[in-house]
Amino acid sequence: MTDRVPAHYGGDPIRENVLGYGSQSIGEDEKQAVVEALEGDYITRGPTVDAFEERVADLVGVDHAVATTSGTTALHIAGRAAGFGSGDEVITTPLTFVSTAHVATYCCADPVFADIDPHLRSLDPDAVREQVTEDTAGIVPMHYGGQPADIDGLLEVADEHDLTVIWDACHAFGGSWNGEMIGAQRDMVMFSFHPVKNITTGEGGMIVTDDDELAERLRRLRSFDMDYDPDGHESEPWYQVTEGLGYNYNVTDLQAALGLAQLDRLDTFKRRRDETIEQYNEAFASIEGIRTPSEPVNSDPMYHLYAIEVREDFGCDREEFVNALHAENIGVQVHYVPLHYHPYFQEEYGYERGMFPETERVYEGLVSLPLHAKIDDGDVTDVIDAVQQLRTYHAE
Ligand SMILES: Cc1ncc(COP(=O)(O)O)c(C=O)c1O
Repeated sequence: MTDRVPAHYGGDPIRENVLGYGSQSIGEDEKQAVVEALEGDYITRGPTVDAFEERVADLVGVDHAVATTSGTTALHIAGRAAGFGSGDEVITTPLTFVSTAHVATYCCADPVFADIDPHLRSLDPDAVREQVTEDTAGIVPMHYGGQPADIDGLLEVADEHDLTVIWDACHAFGGSWNGEMIGAQRDMVMFSFHPVKNITTGEGGMIVTDDDELAERLRRLRSFDMDYDPDGHESEPWYQVTEGLGYNYNVTDLQAALGLAQLDRLDTFKRRRDETIEQYNEAFASIEGIRTPSEPVNSDPMYHLYAIEVREDFGCDREEFVNALHAENIGVQVHYVPLHYHPYFQEEYGYERGMFPETERVYEGLVSLPLHAKIDDGDVTDVIDAVQQLRTYHAE
């Protein structure tokens, strides 16, 4: 590595083409699988969807998997299946994507934020405990970046107060904790298959559960809350009736075919992500002012994000760091602007800045560096060099 003037301060960019922070990897097998699905008898709600669900349920080690059109719609029907409604409070993390809190809002319940454990960057069980009231109906923890949250601690709080837990595992598909796959935890766990996630179906989501009744509710809600075979109408094959407010969150066989083909490459995807993280960890361990993600405890996560924290002693703040890497054509991102900073949650629920100090302190430094299955060693070197050169520039 040679010292050079970073592009943000007048040098040439380290890369000619932009390296995204996340990206899908689609091979010939995926293309072929989608074409075959297109040529089949069903292109939606068909046998490929069943096969995709069965394969995910097997992989995770649960009885049921229900595919939906996105992670957001998975969260919506999980909240409905849990029975959340007006007057209920649902505790979740402010350091997440907006959809996590919409488990509550879509069901007319109130989202109640609790502060995070700064090491895991996900809900702190003690902070959750402090927010429990007689109206609390559930908890929605999120496995930030793919790193498992404090699963034992959070289940303990749920048990103390008889709360339903919906795990937002959008970042964590393919990982394991305590010898079981992420997804095997009660009551429901949901995933996203958006293109930047660990596998993709274009858009898509999935809820997994061992609970037969919840699975039945989820299937109904996904499809108009329709009883396709009501009792007493056996001789009227057309007779289908809706029993409540349901949705059309059905997925196509094209998406399911893509998902199945992506599952074939899950191990390869994980390996590439793990290798990249190892290279980043090694390079950044000695750079002053950078906090790398905490080491996983008792788990083998599949990381969706590699998020560092840029601290004061790095020499420039997070805003300058992000803009400096963008100038090098390195696509970094920040996950996330805390939900209590968003106008919607401030105006509707009275949240304000300053309410969740750990979340805010972590957020101040957060930067997600590129991490995806298509990254090659040259890309990783560019990122590491750009960060090291930025540090050298500011240290002088
Ligand atoms: C933590 C988290 N929850 C929920 C979602 C929503 O998933 P989707 O984009 O599939 O609707 C996302 C996606 O960005 C997410 O990162």
